[in-house]
Amino acid sequence: MDIAFLLNGETVELRGVDPTETALDWLREARGLTGTKEGCNEGDCGACTVMVTDEAGTRALNACLLFLPQLDGKSLTTIEGLAAPDGSLHPVQEAMVEHHGSQCGFCTPGIVMSLAAGQIAGETDHDRQLAGNLCRCTGYAPIARAADIALRKPVPKWLRDLPGGPAHRHGDNPHLPRSIDALADYLMTHPYARIVAGATDIGLWVNKDMRDLGEVVFVSQIAEMARIETAPYMIRIGAAATIEALRQEMVQHHPHFAAMLARFASAQVRGAATVGGNIANGSPIGDGPPALIALGATLILRRGEASREIPLEDFFIDYGKQDRQPGEFVEAITIPRMPGAADRLKVYKISKRFDQDISAVLGAFNIAVEDGKVQSARIAFGGMAGVPKRAAAVEAALTGQPWSRETIEAAMAQFATDFTPLDDLRASAGYRLTTAANLLLRYWLEDQGVAVSLQEVHS
Ligand SMILES: Cc1cc2nc3c(=O)[nH]c(=O)nc-3n(C[C@H](O)[C@H](O)[C@H](O)COP(=O)(O)OP(=O)(O)OC[C@H]3O[C@@H](n4cnc5c(N)ncnc54)[C@H](O)[C@@H]3O)c2cc1C
Ligand code: FES
Ligand code: FES
Repeated sequence: MDIAFLLNGETVELRGVDPTETALDWLREARGLTGTKEGCNEGDCGACTVMVTDEAGTRALNACLLFLPQLDGKSLTTIEGLAAPDGSLHPVQEAMVEHHGSQCGFCTPGIVMSLAAGQIAGETDHDRQLAGNLCRCTGYAPIARAADIALRKPVPKWLRDLPGGPAHRHGDNPHLPRSIDALADYLMTHPYARIVAGATDIGLWVNKDMRDLGEVVFVSQIAEMARIETAPYMIRIGAAATIEALRQEMVQHHPHFAAMLARFASAQVRGAATVGGNIANGSPIGDGPPALIALGATLILRRGEASREIPLEDFFIDYGKQDRQPGEFVEAITIPRMPGAADRLKVYKISKRFDQDISAVLGAFNIAVEDGKVQSARIAFGGMAGVPKRAAAVEAALTGQPWSRETIEAAMAQFATDFTPLDDLRASAGYRLTTAANLLLRYWLEDQGVAVSLQEVHS
């Protein structure tokens, strides 16, 4: 595969690239740029953080989960390219030195790259920006202090001017389609090609399972598939929109969903992971699907010229089995919007760690109440079955009933009808069932304005 991109401001053209070679391996082994470190090689530690700039802006990404073709047409900045061309330090580097933000230094390049991307985005929540960067020795206080100082300084000109766009793109490449139609055409003739979106799942198959992906097609060049559009009665989320883009969009429509998404992995993973990938992977513990199901989302699937729409919950047939034909792909998701209606969605993520952890249980509740009675209830869970699943019996026990504690307690008993969860390393079946039912009680109590006593860590 032939690709072209900017590396620290200089054009790089590569021919015959192995489509699953990671940026991390290439930087270190082919270019000798060893400032980008390898820690976990699975997206957990942030030692490999780099910055990528394109039409959508600049973001921090994990180079270990970034395949080279995803860089085509974009601008890649590594720690070696962060200082000014004359060698003067970036404000984050200066502040890290001044505030003793580094001890052994292994994590430092990744932390500096994350903070530099945060500085460009004006991110004031350093915990959120650094949740994906592990440091074993320094402690985060000096690092956060350095981040604060850097944030008060202007973004250096040499980074402001970073171009990201088609100028550096290689010629036409069927594995890197630039439109949804071109992707649909490609998949009609290559129905078993592996679609690569953010590669935050697929990267692990390659790095950890040493899997050969066979034929691949990337969606990273399809700008129209990454769009989120808000119409009066609907929000349309392109399948290639990132989780971070979804989070930002949800801040205004469904803030509780947005707050949960801030705990989805880390800034680096959210900047790469897509909404379509979070659905198409069919994971029973994906954080996006339960909330989207509770919102009444519709999935738009495309095969060749044909599109079909199904309720999102119907996509998940069984563990590892989804309603998707060879050659078919997720094009978009829509969620209804009711201007003027109160936002009733709450999404509770239960995990052992606050940040950067997979859910043990995730409950999404969207219960409309009018004149003291439940008008409608959409409740969906992750971690409770082999697929993301609606709590149909619980919903039935609520609908039409008074919005009272008695109704809630009767409905709580129905969780055992809806779910037979598993024991695994994240939680026991009993814990999951009790927790799920208690989340309904929590939703109700919060709705009554009752202070709920929670063992919840806030960043
Ligand atoms: C460190 C780390 C932390 C994580 N934390 C979380 C978390 O907190 N919550 C969570 O839910 N997930 C988490 N994940 C999992 C992962 O990030 C998400 O599931 C992500 O949304 C996957 O999207 P992607 O674009 O990276 O998918 P990819 O890895 O590119 O693809 C995943 C699968 O979806 C298919 N696919 C992708 N796009 C389409 C499409 N448009 N049509 C059809 N098929 C498609 C691919 O072929 C593949 O089978 C984490 C992953 C890592 C590495
Ligand atoms: S090496 Fe740990 S996140 Fe990439
Ligand atoms: S300074 Fe040693 S890991 Fe952070």
